Amino acid sequence: MKIKIISGSPRQRSLTVRVAKHLLKRLKEEKVDVELIDLREHQIPFVETVWSTLDKVPSEFKELGEKIFSADAFILVSPEYNGGYSPALKNLLDHFPKQSRKVFGIATATDGALGAMRSAQQLIQMVAAFFGILSPQLLITPHVDKKFDEEGNLTDDSFQKAIDTFVSEFLWLAKKIKD
Ligand SMILES: Cc1cc2nc3c(=O)[nH]c(=O)nc-3n(C[C@H](O)[C@H](O)[C@H](O)COP(=O)(O)O)c2cc1C
Repeated sequence: MKIKIISGSPRQRSLTVRVAKHLLKRLKEEKVDVELIDLREHQIPFVETVWSTLDKVPSEFKELGEKIFSADAFILVSPEYNGGYSPALKNLLDHFPKQSRKVFGIATATDGALGAMRSAQQLIQMVAAFFGILSPQLLITPHVDKKFDEEGNLTDDSFQKAIDTFVSEFLWLAKKIKD
């Protein structure tokens, strides 16, 4: 099973990428095939056409396209910008066709107190529109800068249980759907 974690922040000084880095390490420990797609590394133009098959993906984005098309499940990691999820994340996903029967985990983060919950709520709607199957256990992360260091190491043990539950519920569903 191939899992792609998409870090949705385009900001070079991203804080939410810490959550993505942590989940990457954690899923590697669970011995699953997992990769990080970090949107800071991809300057994708605004959507013009949907790349409906891998053949239609322009050569400069072919590697990215291969990752999306080959994925069995995704974890979307997003900040909250003015009450919404990352437009860079939306722009990426809009280039690809519906991800029918693929499982999506949602993880949001902010340095504020509310964990980017509004962003998560919008992502739930987006996953449905994208024909994805939502893992209902969200990872909502307030004060992300005080929970993870720059390498994605957890610095606040009280958050461990939330991560464990998120990961185990996501993997359970992703494996069931894959089988
Ligand atoms: C343009 C902008 C709008 C923001 N709006 C919100 C918001 O609505 N709610 C919130 O909790 N945090 C908000 N923040 C704070 C971000 O969640 C915080 O800066 C976080 O670090 C952004 O993630 P990133 O560093 O990975 O890009 C906003 C930040 C920016 C730059």
